[in-house]
Amino acid sequence: MLVRLVYASRAAEPMTAKMLDTVLQQSRGYNQSRGITGVLCAHEAGNSFLQVLEGSREEVNRLYNKIVRDDRHTDVLLLGYAEIGERRFSSWRMGRIDLKQVNPSTLLRYSERAELDPSTLSAERALALLEELITTVAG
Ligand SMILES: Cc1cc2nc3c(=O)[nH]c(=O)nc-3n(C[C@H](O)[C@H](O)[C@H](O)COP(=O)(O)O)c2cc1C
Repeated sequence: MLVRLVYASRAAEPMTAKMLDTVLQQSRGYNQSRGITGVLCAHEAGNSFLQVLEGSREEVNRLYNKIVRDDRHTDVLLLGYAEIGERRFSSWRMGRIDLKQVNPSTLLRYSERAELDPSTLSAERALALLEELITTVAG
């Protein structure tokens, strides 16, 4: 059975490219071997993360438990968790979205201000935003 989990968090220290590279590198090997797909959106200006994880219930729960305990971020807030019929991010071992490259008007469609605060988004809005961004600025 497949599930999708989406959460928001705050970086423990000001985000650096090196930290992001390390996390992504770590993630891609693990996720591929465990059948996990998803996207990590890093918002440098707001020092926040928004991530979606898809995969088997067991693997997604196991990974989320590791992620929650990771001291590189804090205030991990579960936005949504649902059983799903199919994946939305199936081509991504872990896609990366850098919000610096995003057009402010795109963010404004989803949030009150152009400075995105992912912790205020509903799961549905968060997923819609990630789905739109993955088609434009993901790497
Ligand atoms: C924002 C953020 C997102 C992360 N995403 C993933 C991920 O998708 N996959 C993964 O394997 N590790 C991810 N990690 C790293 C895990 O938290 C953890 O360090 C890694 O799974 C190794 O855990 P272990 O040493 O307990 O095996 C992420 C860390 C952070 C801070």
